[in-house]
Amino acid sequence: MEIKTNFLVIGSGIAGLSFALKAAAYGQVTIITKRNLYESNTYYAQGGIAAVFSKEDSFSAHIKDTLKTGNGLCNKDIVKLVIGNGPERVKELINYGVNFSLSKNDKRQFDLSLEGGHSQRRILHVADITGKEIMSKLAEQVKKNKNITVYEECVAINLITDSKTEKKRCWGAYVLDKKKGIIHTFLAQITVLATGGVGKVYLYTSNPDVATGDGIAMAYRAGAKIANMEFMQFHPTCLYHPLAKSFLISEAVRGEGGILRLSDGTAFMKRYHPLKELAPRDIVARAIDNELKQCGEDCVFLDITHRKPVFIKKRFPNIYRKCLSFGIDITKELIPVVPAAHYLCGGVVTNEYGRTSINKLYAIGEVASTGLHGANRLASNSLLEALVFAHQSANMVKEEIKTKDSFPRVPSWNIGGAVDSKEAVIVAHNWDEIRRLMWNYVGIVRTNKRLEHAKRRIKLLQKEIHRYYWDFTITGDLIELRNIATVAELIIRSAIQRKESRGLHYNLNYPKEDNIHWKKDTIV
Ligand code: SIN
Repeated sequence: MEIKTNFLVIGSGIAGLSFALKAAAYGQVTIITKRNLYESNTYYAQGGIAAVFSKEDSFSAHIKDTLKTGNGLCNKDIVKLVIGNGPERVKELINYGVNFSLSKNDKRQFDLSLEGGHSQRRILHVADITGKEIMSKLAEQVKKNKNITVYEECVAINLITDSKTEKKRCWGAYVLDKKKGIIHTFLAQITVLATGGVGKVYLYTSNPDVATGDGIAMAYRAGAKIANMEFMQFHPTCLYHPLAKSFLISEAVRGEGGILRLSDGTAFMKRYHPLKELAPRDIVARAIDNELKQCGEDCVFLDITHRKPVFIKKRFPNIYRKCLSFGIDITKELIPVVPAAHYLCGGVVTNEYGRTSINKLYAIGEVASTGLHGANRLASNSLLEALVFAHQSANMVKEEIKTKDSFPRVPSWNIGGAVDSKEAVIVAHNWDEIRRLMWNYVGIVRTNKRLEHAKRRIKLLQKEIHRYYWDFTITGDLIELRNIATVAELIIRSAIQRKESRGLHYNLNYPKEDNIHWKKDTIV
């Protein structure tokens, strides 16, 4: 089937849905999403959205915190743009019906929480289910909008591009309908990558299964500029329990006084940073990694038992319930935690309107490298970034869509001699191998030797995947495997390129920041 649309949005998190709602005023929007409309990294966001709302706070303070965390690699103009737009964009969410938690003492004020690296309380949240609330309100609007069509269970395979013009142009994507096993051609005047993150490249991650870096992999294959892939943020505290797949213990728990302890009760963060538990995430994650390597244990513990049970249950109802379901009463017991891959600061390079280096291809949300985060992301700046760039790109496409150009003739997907595979175990095995390889060799602390080893392994794995990809019928799993392998390769190559330690990239062979040679982005 060939489907023509004005705007093709790939991905349905906060970036994709916010863009779709705005762009629908100018044309037909088609959203494709791998599972259902809700399933995205956004849905699981606990912490919230950082924006300047309190009297004690200021744009300049939020800008300063963002720049400091970004370790010299933020683009100052982008930081100012995003933070300056914060309150307006958050108000739009409120207009869609998002009910941010209010202060206990003054119901006219938001209950603003504190997270690592912030000098002020400025995180708007909905208890500890901020993402779920945002997704439900955005999805409600999308479902009502007659100009938006949603295709669920559909995964993009490759972007469709042509090089007839001086600058390569994107015309949409080939898309696999996973339920029917059919590959459709989606032709679009404008294509927007809103595919989110890449957490599944690592063995341990806070991300859901859909976070396989599809947008970055597709953009890279199409020839788009990609930057700063070595800056993978590891969240310090994911629940450590055999059955608790990917469950995050929000940084807000530390913001409300949570203390990190070893199994013997020792609080160790004071040895690493004056801000202790509220030091920037890279420092906390590395501290935990170091402690675990020294003591040889599997996890450390987060202690919030000194706060009143009624406060804990009201502020963190989701975390409280989830932990209780595993037999941990967080009002009385310590929470076992480990760091896990959480957020990629690099991605597809975009300008201030979300435009990539390929004509008519936009990238918004975690898939993009906008210049906001630099070498490390300030907690809760990412939902804000997604909202601001959805807005910026919608403003730009409003103009672009006015030029009506006719769609090219595009061949439908050719399956060639591919046959159904009876060896799905190969896909499953390679998935595991890549994720383990990335965790062990390209994790929180890196060395030249491990990176070189990872480079050799990923090349071999990619060869195997490539053969499998052309010989056998395409499935959702195979598309994702190919994408995580590409993203892994990009992370490894970028990490090898950067010969210093900065922000989220820490290499024991170059433990210092090198501002003379490396105060710049890594481009692949
Ligand atoms: C959290 O709740 O700790 C996650 C917030 C974020 O990653 O911005």
